[in-house]
Amino acid sequence: MMTSKGCNFELASIATCNHDFFPLHSGGPLKPGKSRVLYGVTEEFPVVAVVGLGEQNQSSDPIEERDETKEAVRTAVAAGYRSLGELGLRSIQVDPCEDGEAAAEGAHLAAFKYQDLKSKKKESPVITCFKKDDQGWIRGTTLAEGQNIARRLMEIPANILTPTNFAQEAVNCLEGLGVEVMPRTYEWAKARSMNAFLSVSRGSGEPPVFLELMYRGKGLVDEKPLAIVGKGVTFDTGGISLKPPGNMDKMRADMGGAACTIGSIFIAAALRLPINIRGFIPLCENMPGSIATKPGDVVVASNGKSIQIDNTDAEGRLILADALHYASQHKPRAIVNMATLTGAMAVSLGSGATGVFSNSETLWKAMHKAGTISGDRVWKMPLWKHYSSQVTDFGLADVHNLGKHSKDAGSCLAAAFLKEFVTCDHWMHMDIAGVMENKDEVAYLGKGMSGRPTRTVATLVELIASGQTGL
Ligand code: BES
Ligand code: ZN
Ligand code: ZN
Repeated sequence: MMTSKGCNFELASIATCNHDFFPLHSGGPLKPGKSRVLYGVTEEFPVVAVVGLGEQNQSSDPIEERDETKEAVRTAVAAGYRSLGELGLRSIQVDPCEDGEAAAEGAHLAAFKYQDLKSKKKESPVITCFKKDDQGWIRGTTLAEGQNIARRLMEIPANILTPTNFAQEAVNCLEGLGVEVMPRTYEWAKARSMNAFLSVSRGSGEPPVFLELMYRGKGLVDEKPLAIVGKGVTFDTGGISLKPPGNMDKMRADMGGAACTIGSIFIAAALRLPINIRGFIPLCENMPGSIATKPGDVVVASNGKSIQIDNTDAEGRLILADALHYASQHKPRAIVNMATLTGAMAVSLGSGATGVFSNSETLWKAMHKAGTISGDRVWKMPLWKHYSSQVTDFGLADVHNLGKHSKDAGSCLAAAFLKEFVTCDHWMHMDIAGVMENKDEVAYLGKGMSGRPTRTVATLVELIASGQTGL
């Protein structure tokens, strides 16, 4: 049950129900995820939103590969929140529906609105839980907050969220939680021969920033860190290989991997998880300026491998090459990278799941489990030599940024490219291009940039911290 108080009415309320519940004067059973607003049901809560949860105990669907009960709670509570959205309520109380974590996620994810740039902002109701001190509710609120941080960063227009301003936003989000945020300059990257990263920023007047983050779990001095790496292209025009203009504005979210890195580290720090984490975020713009990298140029990355750049729009893999090599040098227990890397990923899976590529069965199993819990799923893609040879078998340089037959299996070629720069036994590349934006596919997320898969990565961090994964 979800209840709202302190609205324009004297008293108000909302409720969720199982499959065969018939609200008073309803036209039949309430369908899962659907909501009806009832007035004058109780004195304390004159407005109640009743929402359908569907069948109980539907957790173990092997085809769906996610906890369907949790998902039903997220969807139902979000529907309840939305149906009360127009009523101008000052506060909403939510029934935890036996899963406070999922209920809090549904309510807080549905409540997200990007309105930083509006001079008149709409007031949002305060959301609370019926059950005081529900630990699941507190966790779910933090998980949703982390994802909402990522959504906000992805929405901010690129003239505002430059690499430098992204670094400032990271400080604002994380420093209060004890996370060290260390922005590195162009000179720092140059001194480390990060020429693949710097080749992308050449066409832009905005200086690049390499952002390093460090979160230490309490008392864990010597424990190896988990490394999280995020693609931070604050705007991707394609560079000299210029993109067509339609929908180019969406490329403000080409720092989605970076945003989800901030969101997941926020969650880990806010929940005080017992784990060490290092974040690595290469930030730059991909612009076609007068000294921009040109198709056919060759650069030598920080691991000494030469790269032929035949398409400057395949820039994500270039900035990640140096970031992954740098992350590997820290000898982490595992590396997870997130990147809006290839349009081909959206062709393969749409927004159904993040496509993941890994050299580690252990890491794959852990991430898959994390996706079943968060409901924001992953799907395993191949990281085979078949694709590696297509990016390395060239006469001019060691690696090619497009690869042979590059019209096919673009996501697999990009992953094979990244593999050339990793020296860590447990690495996973998450291609999040397909899940970057939500139209209406995930009911509890509104339309706009999704912040996916922040909660999945945060759940993985929690599984690793709890010692359940073997990582
Ligand atoms: N940022 C894009 C990928 C992308 C496309 C993300 C759509 C989100 C939505 C990436 O840098 C890119 O342009 N990739 C090229 C690679 C190609 C040139 C091999 C692509 O997907 O077309
Ligand atoms: Zn690109
Ligand atoms: Zn890009």
